[in-house]
Amino acid sequence: MSAGYGASHVAEPRRLGWPVRLGPLVVPAGTVRLRPLRLRDGSDWSRIRLRDQEYLERWEPNQPGTWRERNAASAWPSQWSTLRRLAKQGQCFPFAITVDDVFAGQLTIGNVIRAALRSAWIGYWVSSELAGGGVATAAVALATDHAFTEGRLHRLEATVRPENVASLRVLGKAGYRREGLFRRYLEVQGEWRDHLCYALTAEETGDGVVALLVASGGASMPEQR
Ligand SMILES: CC(C)(COP(=O)(O)OP(=O)(O)OC[C@H]1O[C@@H](n2cnc3c(N)ncnc32)[C@H](O)[C@@H]1OP(=O)(O)O)[C@@H](O)C(=O)NCCC(=O)NCCS
Repeated sequence: MSAGYGASHVAEPRRLGWPVRLGPLVVPAGTVRLRPLRLRDGSDWSRIRLRDQEYLERWEPNQPGTWRERNAASAWPSQWSTLRRLAKQGQCFPFAITVDDVFAGQLTIGNVIRAALRSAWIGYWVSSELAGGGVATAAVALATDHAFTEGRLHRLEATVRPENVASLRVLGKAGYRREGLFRRYLEVQGEWRDHLCYALTAEETGDGVVALLVASGGASMPEQR
């Protein structure tokens, strides 16, 4: 009987590719970097998320409590420590996205499964003040390349509501492929919503997603500016 594709009897390092700092990449909004989340990100995190409720809430899964309660600065320490614990266990890569060294959003690679699957999901949000400035695309490119190299993952998957044109565009620019439609997949704003599944595997990325983005003019390395 199979032990299941998530199980492994061969010892694997638990925290492949973590902790790590990625970037810089220069985009119209500024210089994008990824770094591990910090406890002291709480006030910036809360300020942006309370202000951007309308912008973010349409796309995020239902959680207990009101938006205000869930995104108060006082809610951050427990979220941060949960993500930190999961990262220590090798189950996620919880990044802060910074632009010009200022906290600007989050990118998370979650549900990391090793052994024969070597797969995870990728999710992200960026401050509305920077919308359309190339930040999310640069962050996805940096994280994807890292996941497929030092992170030794093979497949990343993103699920997006069909109405989320900005996020679909981000995935398209980063080379993710549409694989299908998950019916009534996730509960968002009180309804079970259809989501499109986008994915990318390591062997599809060639020289890497960052190289692809730079070649297309969507980002540059600092010295190329
Ligand atoms: C999705 C999100 C992360 C994109 O962040 P961003 O930093 O603005 O992304 P980028 O600038 O890298 O790319 C956005 C692209 O979408 C395009 N876009 C944005 N809104 C659009 C719209 N309404 N119609 C068409 N295109 C749109 C932008 O023009 C840009 O494409 P371009 O470079 O070809 O011009 C951000 O909008 C966000 O945080 N949204 C709320 C949370 C969310 O949806 N997370 C993802 C869940 S799957």
